[in-house]
Amino acid sequence: TTWTTAERYRPYDQWPTEQLTTLRQQIAQSHWRFGYHIQPTTGLLNDPNGFSYFNGQWHLFYQAFPYGPVHGLKSWEHLVSDDLMHWEKLGPALIPDTPLDQQGVYSGSAIAVKDRLFLMYTGNVRDQDWERHPKQNGAWLTTTNQVTKLTTPLISNPPKTVTEHFRDPQIIEHDGQYYAFIGAQTTDLTGHVMVYQAPAVTGPWTLKGDLQFSDQPMGYMVECPNLVFIDDRPVLIFCPQGVSADVLASENIYPNAYVVGQAFDWETFSFIDPSPLQNLDAGFDVYATQAFNAPDGRALAVSWIGLPDIAYPSDREGWANGLSVIKDLHLKNDRLVQQPVGVSTIRQQALQVTMPHPVIPQQSELHFTVPADQQGQVTIVTDITTNQGLILNIDTAHGELVVDRAGTGEAVAATYGMTRTANLNAHQPLTGQLLLDHSVFELYLNDGATVLTGRMFPATNADFSLSQTGFTTALGWQGWQLES
Ligand code: FRU
Repeated sequence: TTWTTAERYRPYDQWPTEQLTTLRQQIAQSHWRFGYHIQPTTGLLNDPNGFSYFNGQWHLFYQAFPYGPVHGLKSWEHLVSDDLMHWEKLGPALIPDTPLDQQGVYSGSAIAVKDRLFLMYTGNVRDQDWERHPKQNGAWLTTTNQVTKLTTPLISNPPKTVTEHFRDPQIIEHDGQYYAFIGAQTTDLTGHVMVYQAPAVTGPWTLKGDLQFSDQPMGYMVECPNLVFIDDRPVLIFCPQGVSADVLASENIYPNAYVVGQAFDWETFSFIDPSPLQNLDAGFDVYATQAFNAPDGRALAVSWIGLPDIAYPSDREGWANGLSVIKDLHLKNDRLVQQPVGVSTIRQQALQVTMPHPVIPQQSELHFTVPADQQGQVTIVTDITTNQGLILNIDTAHGELVVDRAGTGEAVAATYGMTRTANLNAHQPLTGQLLLDHSVFELYLNDGATVLTGRMFPATNADFSLSQTGFTTALGWQGWQLES
């Protein structure tokens, strides 16, 4: 789609209501819509924002451009949940309607403060010459979901050493002080995370310096930083754009990375003995993951399923992208383990997964076990007329699983390759949990030790099937249809 800058940045109140009606009608025809993943009502969704627990409910927001499947003038859409699986949409919470955010309410985070939720976000502001002047702004959300924006920025300008690329504040509390971690590009065009401190969420906010989370260069920009603590160990989840392949190899246009430290020094904002960079997801379409330490002690995460600068076939239906299910984070041998939350609450009837040709509804969950030292192929047949689909090439002798989405239907991001590889331990059995939801899959291997997430665009809404070849012993299968 070719959208002019003027169309992308048209103020929300200048759109005719027919625009949304037209999009809704197009979207109603789609067979790619999700059953249990969060998706935009109309237009484009990107980063998860403001993931928090407040007033007895889980709150989550997402970056939205409701008027088309493009990156236009962004706002925050608000959702609430009692169980982290069933989400109720409450509509827009922050729209770009003030001089502090008039070219977009960009990404940010939330923290409960007494009986209100504080939202900290980047206001994208451009001047007449279209030069960007990012503002770090605040807003209060009440228990009745009324939002009031602060009228002055929390941080009016980037530090002198930072370019116009300064955004995505994550706010956390530690020892009675508040901290904000902000993605930044310094004037030497390298990526960093800036640390600010304040005695209260409304400020005054003071620059404390650079977060020291790696000895490696981070490319030209870091987006969406999140510091969480798991078993008292610091974990930074972030998006280093332009990072070199020897620091982090990734086949996606931009990676979503993490590092784990042995400890965190709050005096110098340093990770002690940080791990090398790792990909958070070994699949095709995860970016801008947001994580936070919940009051119940869990570290929870949610990912954007989508990537910047990538077109998806659903664009022509007037919508783009979705969010992952919520993931519970743990550490094992300095690696993140991610487990989907609440899937068992939406299980319906068990599936008869018996070969050949079991019926696999487009909304389902499959568990499988592969013994050690097996080589073979599993296909989630997304088109039973051609027998093609999502192929898992499994090798538990050498310890490798390759996901191939070339046969799933319409191609996505083909220039970045059709396969992704998960490295496993050799000569070990493998377990898998596969979540299918029409045009998205999430594959959790070995209880979440490796996750591969991706989109696929099957030709029809007919049930999927399953086939397997090559294994010398039977695989164990179990499955359920999942509710909407
Ligand atoms: C990441 C990102 C953020 C920015 C937001 C704008 O996908 O580019 O850095 O705040 O999207 O929608």
